[in-house]
Amino acid sequence: MSKNKTMWIAGIARGHNAGVCLLKDGEVIFSMEEERLSRVKYDGGPLASIVKILEYTDKLDYLVVAHTQPLDESSPKLEFCGDDVYTGLCRKLGLIESNRSSNKHPQVIDVSHKHHELHAACAFYRSGFDDAVGVVIDGAGTFIQMSVNNEDMYGFETETLFDCAYPATFNTIGKHIGTRGPHDIQFTTLNDESKTEVTISDRAGIVKVYEAVTQYCGFQAIEAGKTMGLFPYGEKNDKIPQLFDNMGRVPLSNRNLIAPTYPNAALVNQHLYTELAEGNVYDGSPDGEQVDLTLLQNRRDLAYACQIETQQVASNLIREAVERSGKKNVVISGGYGLNCVANYYYLKDLEDLDIEIYVEPVSNDAGTAMGAAMMMHHQITNSTTTLPRTDSLYLGPKYNYNAQQLKTISKEFSAEVSDCSNEDVIELITSKNIVAIFQGQSENGPRALGNRSLLYDPTDPHGKDHVNEIKHREYFRPFAGSILEEDVHEWFDLRGMESSPTMMYAVNCQPGIEGKIPAIIHVDGTCRIQTVNREQNPHYYDIIKAFKEKTGCPIIFNTSFNLGGEPLVETLQDALWTLQQSRIEYLYLPEYNTLFTLKNE
Ligand SMILES: [Fe+2]
Repeated sequence: MSKNKTMWIAGIARGHNAGVCLLKDGEVIFSMEEERLSRVKYDGGPLASIVKILEYTDKLDYLVVAHTQPLDESSPKLEFCGDDVYTGLCRKLGLIESNRSSNKHPQVIDVSHKHHELHAACAFYRSGFDDAVGVVIDGAGTFIQMSVNNEDMYGFETETLFDCAYPATFNTIGKHIGTRGPHDIQFTTLNDESKTEVTISDRAGIVKVYEAVTQYCGFQAIEAGKTMGLFPYGEKNDKIPQLFDNMGRVPLSNRNLIAPTYPNAALVNQHLYTELAEGNVYDGSPDGEQVDLTLLQNRRDLAYACQIETQQVASNLIREAVERSGKKNVVISGGYGLNCVANYYYLKDLEDLDIEIYVEPVSNDAGTAMGAAMMMHHQITNSTTTLPRTDSLYLGPKYNYNAQQLKTISKEFSAEVSDCSNEDVIELITSKNIVAIFQGQSENGPRALGNRSLLYDPTDPHGKDHVNEIKHREYFRPFAGSILEEDVHEWFDLRGMESSPTMMYAVNCQPGIEGKIPAIIHVDGTCRIQTVNREQNPHYYDIIKAFKEKTGCPIIFNTSFNLGGEPLVETLQDALWTLQQSRIEYLYLPEYNTLFTLKNE
């Protein structure tokens, strides 16, 4: 490679939350999940998003592959040539060179054996810290072949602690590996030289406990966010057994209560406990009508116990990481990083440590694509320059529409097009209309941050039920708010943080605020908030400002632009399709001062 040649690296994540991150000389050009293009939630196999790379480059220097199992062993193969499907696709698209004589592809680097390391890398390189300790709390990371008591078995990364440093050092200092039970396995080893402590057990890890309770509440294992929404409806119930036997340095879940089924999901052994057994999925009636489990108190109480106990053991783990590493900067990633209730809890529980915490907003597996690409870049360049913190998540591919294209698309969906200002939008919102906003690049990660959002009036006392109904979401799920950064401390207690730009914390209101914005306050008095300044998102900032000017309220109701079970919209066509399928009538394009109106029958 010549010295000044541009270096293109693509990281791909293969599992659920499949996606691609494209780097040009180390800079993220785009990063997105496959589901946004394929329109299938949690879609695996980043094929459509690999094709998207061609819009930016026709050649890759490296394709770095993230997952939990080796590419060679776990990916479907193309007929005859034997290439795995991703290598094959990149070869056929001309993105990587084809070496016909050896059928080897040196540009393809498989890092699937480093799943947790990739989560940590994603968080570390984006944190702005020059060194840090990484805490990864995840469902099941890399599959590890092991021999325990002369028995061959698989282990699965559940929680890992890393000592992180530039250019690309991620030394494991602690790890919990879960095994499929019941083996009655429980032991810890300490490597004196590396100071690495590894615990292998047949107990469920933190996320597996959450998955088990999530299924017990009637959701899919991957829908932990719903359990987090349900938890404040429950309360402490002494008849319910503890989920963890050991809340200490290695969280050991109750073996009798939680049965992990690594790698996927886990189960609550409800039949052993009278208090938990009550309430079946079906009510026993001949037509087998499904009972809403979230209405049962035992479900709510276990969801409560799950949130309270898991956030405590996670907090203990962070404390352990800080003490073992001696570092004052902490980066958090892996699926549990998305638990915005726990993230807020750490700020209080760990206050005495005087640490700075960065929680990675792309903590789901989509972030491993970014981690893989960034780690590869640093391994090649050996760069020790600390990257600035990147709070912006507007990393999707770029879309530009001219007037004629807007007209054509509007006709396709029989939408009216009119000129529109921010003030017009606020008029619609305060008249109790939902207004969808579509602008710029889509958000990476699961949060809508004003580029693909549905906006509403947070002061409407019926707002939560109204929008939940229109979005086909469950009654108990709360909504978020976007607030002008300069007003945040007057309205919310950020526990020492200056801002919350990526909506990673569910925070307490300041006294007297709750009643002002009932539509976005959860039953426990918290709100998941996004702070917005003009530099981060000028159009969005101006809309919230216009709302404040009219109402005196500096916060607007913000929920993701999708319907229940659908991925976030990606294109303008997806946006209008969503309007067509719902009772949402207005779509605002602030970049074009344009409003699409789609009157539904
Ligand atoms: Fe993961």
